[in-house]
Amino acid sequence: MGTELIQREYHEGILTLRINRPDKKNALNLAMYEALAAGIRAGDSDPAVRVILVTGTGDCFTSGNDLADFLGAPPTGMDSPVMQFLTAISTARTPLVAAVNGRAVGVGVTMLLHCDLVYVGRSASFQMPFVNLGLCPEAGSTMLLPRIMGHQRAAELLLLGEVFSADKAYSLGIATEICPDNDVFAIARGKALQLAAQPAAAVRMAKDLLKRDYAPQLQETIAEEAKQFMARLKSPEAAEALQAFMERRKPDFRKFA
Ligand code: COA
Repeated sequence: MGTELIQREYHEGILTLRINRPDKKNALNLAMYEALAAGIRAGDSDPAVRVILVTGTGDCFTSGNDLADFLGAPPTGMDSPVMQFLTAISTARTPLVAAVNGRAVGVGVTMLLHCDLVYVGRSASFQMPFVNLGLCPEAGSTMLLPRIMGHQRAAELLLLGEVFSADKAYSLGIATEICPDNDVFAIARGKALQLAAQPAAAVRMAKDLLKRDYAPQLQETIAEEAKQFMARLKSPEAAEALQAFMERRKPDFRKFA
């Protein structure tokens, strides 16, 4: 296995994109977003790729955006690497399968909302701590989560930003199946192979039709969330939360109205 931070491997119709930065819990930096976006676009335009499979390395799927980048190299517009990634994953016509091998945080969860089949390890856990960081939700999650689970349950996940279990992810409808931890990749790959053997044009058409009624609104939502997110990154609350993470302490929001 190579040392690239995003490993690409093609085998039997399946393009696997593996997030590989285990020493930083697979946090996504700018180059990794670019590589993921490029991988998805390449897979989507290659007829030999019938399924794209996304997974992580080690005990974490991904801890989300690199928090140091939020301070040092924040996204500034729709052409930012993170936005290229979100556009690629939310518009891909090729089916996307995820194998969640451990903790998924932030965009590590919201990217799953754009995947068609999501296999999660029994001890995987999930968290969308955007508000906890003084930020706002992204990746279309403010539209997709209420659509999947209703307002109150989406609000709980997004406003409290607590860690939740694989069981909860499954019962809320954002995981397809819970797998034994050691088998999650093999099971996801088996399903990807099954999908790759289906007639590709029919699969793509079915995926298109599944998203038809909300696809344009989804892009609008992603753009609006991004605008607010970029503004929130400059807020004093976000500065306090990010500083607190770097200093390994709890943030103190009491001084902010
Ligand atoms: N960005 C940058 N670095 C990160 C990171 C992130 N999102 N997540 C983890 N890391 C780094 C840590 O700083 C640490 O680096 P160091 O060894 O150089 O000090 C290393 O990865 C290991 O992380 P650590 O926190 O010690 O591991 P843990 O097992 O105790 O906790 C997490 C794992 C994922 C629960 C925890 O790291 C975390 O909450 N990370 C932040 C997640 C986040 O808020 N993401 C953004 C959402 S919008």
